[in-house]
Amino acid sequence: MNATPPIDRETLLASYAWPDRERARVRMNFVASIDGSATLEGRSGGLGDENDRRAMQAMRTLADVVLVGAGTVRAEGYGGLAVSEADAAWRVSRGRPEQPRVAVVSSRLDLDARHPFFEAAVRRPLVVTHAAAPEARRRALAAVADVLVCGEEAVDPAAMLRALARESLGEVLCEGGPHLFGSLLDADLVDEVCLSLSPTLVGGDGGRIARGARESVHRMRLVHALPAGDLVLLRYARA
Ligand SMILES: NC(=O)c1ccc[n+]([C@@H]2O[C@H](COP(=O)([O-])OP(=O)(O)OC[C@H]3O[C@@H](n4cnc5c(N)ncnc54)[C@H](OP(=O)(O)O)[C@@H]3O)[C@@H](O)[C@H]2O)c1
Repeated sequence: MNATPPIDRETLLASYAWPDRERARVRMNFVASIDGSATLEGRSGGLGDENDRRAMQAMRTLADVVLVGAGTVRAEGYGGLAVSEADAAWRVSRGRPEQPRVAVVSSRLDLDARHPFFEAAVRRPLVVTHAAAPEARRRALAAVADVLVCGEEAVDPAAMLRALARESLGEVLCEGGPHLFGSLLDADLVDEVCLSLSPTLVGGDGGRIARGARESVHRMRLVHALPAGDLVLLRYARA
C-alpha cells in the first residue's frame, strides 16, 4: 500500500463527532477490501493502513464503550485497548473518563479469564451474555469483568443497549465482528456504519462485514467520504 500523509487527528475527531448526546446509539466500524472481504488470512489488520488506524483511534476517543463479539476477541486478540495520552486528555476536557470501556458479547462464554482482553484492560471490561449461558464460566468471568445478562436464551441486542446505557455507556462503537453486526442489523439497531474501503483485491473466501442477518433493506445516507491516499474512509448514517 502507498505511504500517504496521515489525516490529522483534529480533522478525524471533527469528522466522526456525534451530532448530539441524547440517546444510545451504535456505530459500526469495519474495513473491507474492494472485492468485499472482511478478512485477509483470517484477520482484518492486513486490510487497513495508518489512516484507517487513525480513524479507528478517533472513533474510540469518541466512544463510551468499544463493543466486540467473542469471535473477534478470539481471532484478533484485543488486549489493552487504550486511546493515546492526548486523546485521553481530550476526553477528560469534555467530561468523559480517560478511556472508553470494552465489552465482549458471548453466548457460550468460551473466553479465558487470563486472555489479554481481561488481563490487559485499562478499565474493568464488560461481558454481555444471557441467562442460559454456562454458569461456571459466567462466575469465572465475573471475577475479571462486569457481566451483563441481557436475554433468557440468547443475547437480546436491544436489552444489551439498554443495559449499557444504564452504565452510562450510550455511545457504542462496535468493531465487529460480522455476526455481531448481523444480529444488530436484524434488530434494526445500527445507526452508523463507518467503512474503510481498503485499496485491495484479495480473492479468497473471506466473509462479508455483516453475516447471519435476514435479507432486508436499511437505507443509509453518506455523511462523509474522506480519501486517504488510495483508501477511502466512508461514514454512513441511518437515512
Ligand atoms: N473487517 C473487519 O473490520 C473485521 C472486524 C471484526 C472482525 N473481523 C473478522 O471477523 C472474524 C470473526 O467473525 P465472527 O462473525 O465470528 O465475529 P463476532 O461477531 O465478533 O463473533 C461471533 C461470536 O460473538 C458472539 N456473539 C455475537 N453476536 C451475538 C449475539 N447476538 N448473541 C450472543 N453472542 C453473540 C458469539 O460468541 P460465542 O461463540 O462465544 O457464544 C459468536 O460466536 C475474524 O476473522 C475477524 O478477524 C473483521
